[in-house]
Amino acid sequence: MGYFRRNIESAKGYEPGYQPSFAEATEGRPRQTNVVKLNTNENPYPPSPKVMKVLSEISTEQLRRYPDPMGNTFRQAAADVNGVEPNNIMCCNGGDELLRIAFQAFCDKDRPVAYPVPTYSLYPVLAKLQNCKAIEVPFDNEFNLPAKLANAGAALTIVCNPNAPSGTFISTEELASLADELSGVLLIDEAYVDFAESNCTSLVKDFDNVLILRSMSKGYSLAGLRFGYAIAQPGLIAGLMKVKDSYNVDAVAIALATAAVKDQPYFKENVEKVKAERTRMTEQLRNLGFDVLDSFANFVLAKCKNAKAAEVYEKLTQRNIYVRYFNYPKLKDKLRITVGTPEQNNKLISALKEILSEFG
Ligand SMILES: Cc1ncc(COP(=O)(O)O)c(C=O)c1O
Repeated sequence: MGYFRRNIESAKGYEPGYQPSFAEATEGRPRQTNVVKLNTNENPYPPSPKVMKVLSEISTEQLRRYPDPMGNTFRQAAADVNGVEPNNIMCCNGGDELLRIAFQAFCDKDRPVAYPVPTYSLYPVLAKLQNCKAIEVPFDNEFNLPAKLANAGAALTIVCNPNAPSGTFISTEELASLADELSGVLLIDEAYVDFAESNCTSLVKDFDNVLILRSMSKGYSLAGLRFGYAIAQPGLIAGLMKVKDSYNVDAVAIALATAAVKDQPYFKENVEKVKAERTRMTEQLRNLGFDVLDSFANFVLAKCKNAKAAEVYEKLTQRNIYVRYFNYPKLKDKLRITVGTPEQNNKLISALKEILSEFG
């Protein structure tokens, strides 16, 4: 008998996007400055200066003591911003922790998870670790909500909205109908919702089975901090609290995430900059002959019409321009490109022009 449970032994594990600057740091080489990193949907702009001020003022006392297990200062600030109560909020060590908690709380071998595909590639990994069946319902080519999802009989249904990696958006009304039809929990993964025009917070008031995931990694430029949160009715939040680590978010993270969420003017300004570049990048990619779906996230999914996506990806990588390529059904002919600064996006577009001309 091996040391691991059988499902862990055979699991592949999640494959994160390449982090070039870390690879160089561990090899002791100086950090490359000419890298254009558009592969993991980070925000190209720094976090709020108010976050950096709080960081510089962290006290020894904050580090000596255990943190507030509930992160109540953040819960209050996030409740204010979202128009809910603090008992509707649970802090998490990144949105990914909430996903793990949800699988642990709702799924087992008799309680499947369901989600439309293609979507965030962590969901099947977590299903495997939890040893629960994953019912994958294919999206159509326009990424409309598949009707079959409602009848899948899952204990947990996940809809990523805006969806990754398509960037497409499903309306609140459609998700309300889905929540109404489901007997299990509907987790709406809103990791990218800061870049969309609306969100599903209002559903929490009407549905006790709606669980919303938010991330501080994208709109708030805090991917390195690892902070996210859940919004749901107090009953669901209380149940999820039983599953989380007692001190799942650290004292520094609570203080910094609170400062970030309170600085709404800075957040909104950054989001608008990313959205403006998203429009420009989409137009430029279309002009180069790519099929690009309208995106509501901080990335776009571009279908290569006149070249093989895997080869374009390799050629971009050789030029130190990192984007994401997924060798999965419906994605093999596409590249997922994070929206960067205007300068980064210009470098990407120039490189693509060169590469496409090589294909003739
Ligand atoms: C769809 C989706 N959900 C959730 C997350 C989790 O984000 P984080 O753990 O950084 O908050 C990500 C991260 O890339 C994501 O793409």
